[in-house]
Amino acid sequence: MLFPRAGSAGELWPPVVPQFKTLTETLYNDRKCFEQGSAGCRHGLLAYWISSGGAAESGTRIRVFDTTLRDGDQMPGIELDLEEKLYIARLLDELHVDIIEAGFPASSRIDFETVRRIKREASYARVAGLARTSPRDIDAAAEAEADIIHVFIATSDIHMKYKLRMSREEVIEAAVRAVERARGYGAEVLFSAEDATRSDPEFLAAVYRAVADAGARYINIPDTVGTATPWKMEWLVSFIRKALPEWVRIDVHCHNDFGLAVANSLAGVRGGADGVQVTVNGFGERGGNAALEEVVAALHFLMGRRTGVRLGMLTRVSKEVARVFGVQLPPNKPVTGLNAFAHEAGIHVHGVLSNPATYEPMPPEAVGNRRRIVLGRHSGRAAVAHALEAMGFQPSKDLVSYILEKLKEHAPRLKKVDEDTLQRWVEEYYTSRMRSIGAEMGA
Ligand code: KIV
Ligand code: ZN
Repeated sequence: MLFPRAGSAGELWPPVVPQFKTLTETLYNDRKCFEQGSAGCRHGLLAYWISSGGAAESGTRIRVFDTTLRDGDQMPGIELDLEEKLYIARLLDELHVDIIEAGFPASSRIDFETVRRIKREASYARVAGLARTSPRDIDAAAEAEADIIHVFIATSDIHMKYKLRMSREEVIEAAVRAVERARGYGAEVLFSAEDATRSDPEFLAAVYRAVADAGARYINIPDTVGTATPWKMEWLVSFIRKALPEWVRIDVHCHNDFGLAVANSLAGVRGGADGVQVTVNGFGERGGNAALEEVVAALHFLMGRRTGVRLGMLTRVSKEVARVFGVQLPPNKPVTGLNAFAHEAGIHVHGVLSNPATYEPMPPEAVGNRRRIVLGRHSGRAAVAHALEAMGFQPSKDLVSYILEKLKEHAPRLKKVDEDTLQRWVEEYYTSRMRSIGAEMGA
């Protein structure tokens, strides 16, 4: 059995344990081929990575909660319609995230419908709907038939004083009432203490204990304003972990205001979190959220932790979601960007061509991306020979030298040296060779 039994109700967590074929299997096959020294290994994709000491798998499987359609949709200037939301939700289901937060049902008809439709359609993921502690919000999430009602209320002094105008006692009471109401619908309840990382830790623990007593078996620790550091996040999660019964599942939800959302999510896992809340491409308000593809890749490749996510789909999903959001991804976007596995500098290309692990932190194919050898002013002989061979030319010493000269002269102006340009230079080279041979013969 992959997952521990949850305490009180004796149910399995998560209730559905689907069969998933992930990197684990590929790694295993690779390791076998690699150890047997099989040169023609069909699974050779990862052999070089194993040889360079990739992280060994350990620990329980980390649950992935995607909130692209709720927190991601709060990105300024983004207005997704129902069809766009359904399209993204289907992609996420196919990607095998564990939970899709499909919307905030009380906030709009579109969100309500997305939750309702996806709940009926999803074949892998469970569906969550967000709700404040008001009965109206909880009833809307229940009416939309969300598998998980995600109740939240703020717990930091600044939010309680200036936004909610509520005392600590009132906040605890509202949280408990809301959880009880949601439980009354028979739904799983996830409780988030908004601005948790800026809350008094003792009070925060008291809030979580109260909602757990009221029936929330699943809580979330949000870094709402992105002000946590990795060491603070690790400490806070382990502090809350110790304050709660062992059967309470914990997620972390990190915002990216200081560019730390991915690091903070990983630190939360180190501190004992069972799940991460993420959005595709880190889309979200202000600096955004933790990027799904970066967190998942780092969990697998740096921490040796499994998720159910189909890694090979990451690049396609990242590109599709960017297209639907109408946002251009930067070329240097880690994991799924155009340049994530692109090499131009001579030393790098030489290294990568003899062993990809020299300059690639994970196999591009494993995350659905690909290696690009880019020709430019910084290219060396290996890159040019590789490009010529790929186009079917014999990379003689002279031809390579000729192309290198051309690159140094023209690449800064051309910006992009494509196959057509290379082809033209090769033709120029042969024409000038023919001319000089002709001249020699005529002399
Ligand atoms: O950032 C946040 O605090 C949230 C909560 C609603 C979970 O998005
Ligand atoms: Zn958030």
